[in-house]
Amino acid sequence: MVQASATNWFAQHAAEMRPKIDAALAEFTSFAGPLSGPADALGWRCPPRLREAMRYMLLAPGKRLRPLVVLLSANACGKAAEVALHAACAVEMVHTYSLIHDDLPCMDDDDLRRGQPTCHRKFDEATAVLAGDALLALAFEALAAGPRTGQSLPRDAAAACCAVLAKAAGATALVGGQSDDLAAEESDGGLDQLLAIHARKTAAMFVASARLGGICAGASAVQLEALTQYGHSLGLAFQIMDDLLDVRGQESNVGKRLGKDSRRGKLTYPGLIGVDESLRKAEEHIERARGAVSALGSDAAGLDALALYVVERDR
Ligand code: IPE
Ligand code: IPE
Ligand code: MG
Ligand code: MG
Ligand code: MG
Repeated sequence: MVQASATNWFAQHAAEMRPKIDAALAEFTSFAGPLSGPADALGWRCPPRLREAMRYMLLAPGKRLRPLVVLLSANACGKAAEVALHAACAVEMVHTYSLIHDDLPCMDDDDLRRGQPTCHRKFDEATAVLAGDALLALAFEALAAGPRTGQSLPRDAAAACCAVLAKAAGATALVGGQSDDLAAEESDGGLDQLLAIHARKTAAMFVASARLGGICAGASAVQLEALTQYGHSLGLAFQIMDDLLDVRGQESNVGKRLGKDSRRGKLTYPGLIGVDESLRKAEEHIERARGAVSALGSDAAGLDALALYVVERDR
């Protein structure tokens, strides 16, 4: 579908959407915007240091791929991106919380994220844990509050969005995958185990992103199934590329410490099957992702380009 280089598309088209996502994230974490309510009237305030820590990592220059998947999935179902902006923010909040916790000394023990010191290095461990906790809760508050454009999401759709995101963030998906990722540092796992870890710690959130965009756009069951397959394959490719960047990326582009996976004994694709075969697997997943949404026609051009970008990316 997409003729020009996917990286060019990402630089141009996504650059137009990112400021809208960033502005909405900033508003949601101002604690004076659309979510302020009776609690604020009671004088319950977010402590300034906690607010600063939340915004420090949330508003840092992440790629915003998951919110872009949300917005482009709404487009793929024939709706304007705006109908899913609150859902895009919710997904980015959950993702950012997972990064803050992933970097803690008790997990991957990292000191660089999004090109700046990790949250616990910049602040302290307790503040980083609490900033993550608060972002996770805020995500569901933002999701339940409905779109920021005035028209509200039907209640059953809002409830469906909350259920999808909760499942993806929870014990059987993201958190379960993270738990197994840490446990695998101590074991000699194989490809099946690695696939199960990637599907849960990473692909589950891409599936949720695609489905949330679809639900906000009133997608049919057939469209939702296509988006689910897209998110799953995209997420698997995305994590293989993340593992590859750890082996052969440039720290100044990636914005995190590299070479850490092998030092920590992580189970990874390049560690198990080498760089070339890993790249081939990622490309296979991307072709599956593109195939899944090809039936949605030209409205899915953005999702198609994003999939191509994922295997071209250098950050
Ligand atoms: C990093 O995700 C965590 C993984 C699942 C590999 P991203 O590479 O999307 O991180 P940001 O959001 O751009 O910082
Ligand atoms: C993390 O995977 C996945 C998450 C759910 C945060 P990694 O541990 O490989 O992510 P990076 O490389 O630290 O971003
Ligand atoms: Mg990790
Ligand atoms: Mg990590
Ligand atoms: Mg990694």
